[in-house]
Amino acid sequence: MNWMLRLQEKLWGIAPWDAKQITDEWFRAHFDYASDVVHHWVGSALDLRTAKLLNFGCGDGITDLSLVLRHGATSIHGVDIRQEYAKLPRIAREQLGMSRIPAALTFETIPPGAPLAGRRPLVDGIMSWSTFEHVQRDQLLPILKDLHACLRPGGFFFIQIEPLFYSPYGSHLRRYDEVPWHHLLTSEEALWKVIEDHDGPIDAAEVDFGFADFGVDGYKRFVFKEYQALNRLTADELVEFTAAAGFHVVRQERRNVEMEIPAELRGRYPDEWLLNNEIFLLLSK
Ligand SMILES: C[S@@+](CC[C@H](N)C(=O)[O-])C[C@H]1O[C@@H](n2cnc3c(N)ncnc32)[C@H](O)[C@@H]1O
Repeated sequence: MNWMLRLQEKLWGIAPWDAKQITDEWFRAHFDYASDVVHHWVGSALDLRTAKLLNFGCGDGITDLSLVLRHGATSIHGVDIRQEYAKLPRIAREQLGMSRIPAALTFETIPPGAPLAGRRPLVDGIMSWSTFEHVQRDQLLPILKDLHACLRPGGFFFIQIEPLFYSPYGSHLRRYDEVPWHHLLTSEEALWKVIEDHDGPIDAAEVDFGFADFGVDGYKRFVFKEYQALNRLTADELVEFTAAAGFHVVRQERRNVEMEIPAELRGRYPDEWLLNNEIFLLLSK
């Protein structure tokens, strides 16, 4: 289908779009915030107008769409183990009034851990947003080595993770549970009970486009399973894994919360783990 999009785009240009039509807070958070941050980091190292980019764990592709529309990217290949990106044409129509998504975007579903190297030309840049905390721990190193092999020498890799597991909302369950560090303080059964009993609206910026497929209870089960599958990576471990895969750190930023650590957790985990909720990591090959 991409050749059709390319032809249509050649004939008529990129379909018109209008950010004033945005009503969905999840869409806005990715279209504005996430894409601006990726642009800030990746754009500081590469010219997005000429770079061939790979997005590992692209999700619904909203950030990629914005990188093309708002930041001039011309080639982004998104890969993911799910197929949320299949919704992007509909989402772009609803949120931007856009009749077709730009031909600069291509997407692919992969089995978890499936090697990508050697199947496509080397890329200039790779990005990954809120994904590496979800990768099975034993697949981290093979995947990072494979991504290293996908990148051209001199290329860049940008990774963001938020929230990190040991931080106050590191369970990724905040939409249902506002108690900081609750996942470290209570049993899994008690935590599930909080989610199960939750009634009422959840923060719109935290509700992705998968919600409609699952329904209220199905979505609760889905996010709880996601919580159970988190690899519990710390910022230091992430940096160590990337070094073991052959990457070099160009720049990193770690953000901490300013909150009082509960007495029960003091000494059980390093303060640094408990307070560090986000990492931005720019790597080179
Ligand atoms: C929290 S979502 C983030 C999606 C997107 N980057 C965003 O910002 O909306 C995490 C994504 O990582 C994907 N993912 C998890 N494990 C993966 C793997 N082994 N390979 C590729 N994608 C993976 C999930 O399917 C999911 O789309």
